[in-house]
Amino acid sequence: MKTNSTTQVLDVAVLPGDGIGPEVMSATLELLGAVQAACGGPALRCTTYDAGAQFYARTGVSLSDATLEACRRSHAMLFGAMGWPDVRNADGTEIMGQLELRMIFSLYAGVRPIRWFPGLPAVLADERARDIDFVLIREQTEGLFYARGRGRMENDDNEAYDTMQITRAGTARASEFAFRLAERRRARRVAAGKASMVTCVDKANVFLSMAFFRKVFDEVAVRHPQIASNHFYVDAMAMTMVKKPWELDVMVMENMFGDILSDLGAGLIGGLGMAPSGDVGDDHGLFQPVHGSAPDIAGQGKANPCAMFLSAAMMLDWLADRHNEPQLEVSARVIEKAIEIALTRGSVVPMDYGGNSGTAELTAAVIGALEEARGKVG
Ligand code: NAI
Ligand code: MG
Repeated sequence: MKTNSTTQVLDVAVLPGDGIGPEVMSATLELLGAVQAACGGPALRCTTYDAGAQFYARTGVSLSDATLEACRRSHAMLFGAMGWPDVRNADGTEIMGQLELRMIFSLYAGVRPIRWFPGLPAVLADERARDIDFVLIREQTEGLFYARGRGRMENDDNEAYDTMQITRAGTARASEFAFRLAERRRARRVAAGKASMVTCVDKANVFLSMAFFRKVFDEVAVRHPQIASNHFYVDAMAMTMVKKPWELDVMVMENMFGDILSDLGAGLIGGLGMAPSGDVGDDHGLFQPVHGSAPDIAGQGKANPCAMFLSAAMMLDWLADRHNEPQLEVSARVIEKAIEIALTRGSVVPMDYGGNSGTAELTAAVIGALEEARGKVG
């Protein structure tokens, strides 16, 4: 749903899902309420729907038609995590609502910002690791994930085949998205003395599909002469992400490469607890932490809600842009700043960073920092 004039109320379909999903989601709804009270702007009407693997185990459906219809009508979707290792389809794969939603709503751009947060313990010894600020764009309607549900066994159960799909349209729209994002980031990058660049990550030296991906990327690059572009093979990029991640700006890649490298990116800033994402298409946007349902810590109040908070901030940015509501962008900056302040004060350290602050303490600390954050964002 897209509006051009000022919208008074924006509908958010909330899918908490499984495991720590509902835990970090309820923390996020509390934070969003506090941010709205502090910053104003259009009201967000958040409605929660049951969905996911545990819902499937109870009802035989992971995403009901009514829920999908509510998602379709909403202005944005906010998603916790779905999947539970014990709940599986007959072929051994998991119930993964997020993959279905990407296909149903054509959420082709998986946007994964990786940014260093002051106050977090260092992962890389190099001082420049504090400058890590890149965005990985994962194409997510085709690539190797096209094979999901289409794999085949051959030769009397001795060989398995999964096929990668790369289309011109799919590659072009993901590449376009990456260049448009780089254009929006450009002024800030240049002001900070950093390169503005879109990097195509592929394996064009080996696979026809990947040579094609690169060719289509290059065709899109020609349409954006003001933004520099380059190419990396995915293996070399894995090393570059560890050796000098502060040099990266925007990257675009096939689905499976993006799945793997986005977790590597999260590792560079200490883990999944600080890694947000957006699944964005032309008509819909879904925002969720990169992490899953974390069965090992679920139900114990240990989850770091910051990745979910930052995903909600990405949602506010996206809504601000689509509905011409700049106040929502201010709210997004206030959330990020409040997280920075809470972590820098040192009174809370997330458990996944070696501290002992659980979901409730972290949420209270971030909400407690909102006023100061609002003063700093202006
Ligand atoms: P996971 O991301 O759930 O957990 C990996 C590790 O990171 C665990 O040790 C966990 O405790 C830790 N972790 C994750 N998020 C954390 C947080 N916010 N705070 C502190 N620690 C955190 O990945 P895993 O274990 O591979 O998958 C568990 C389930 O989640 C599976 O059913 C999987 O299919 C599903 N999954 C769902 C995703 C989604 O909804 N988008 C993404 C990834 C996995
Ligand atoms: Mg993943």
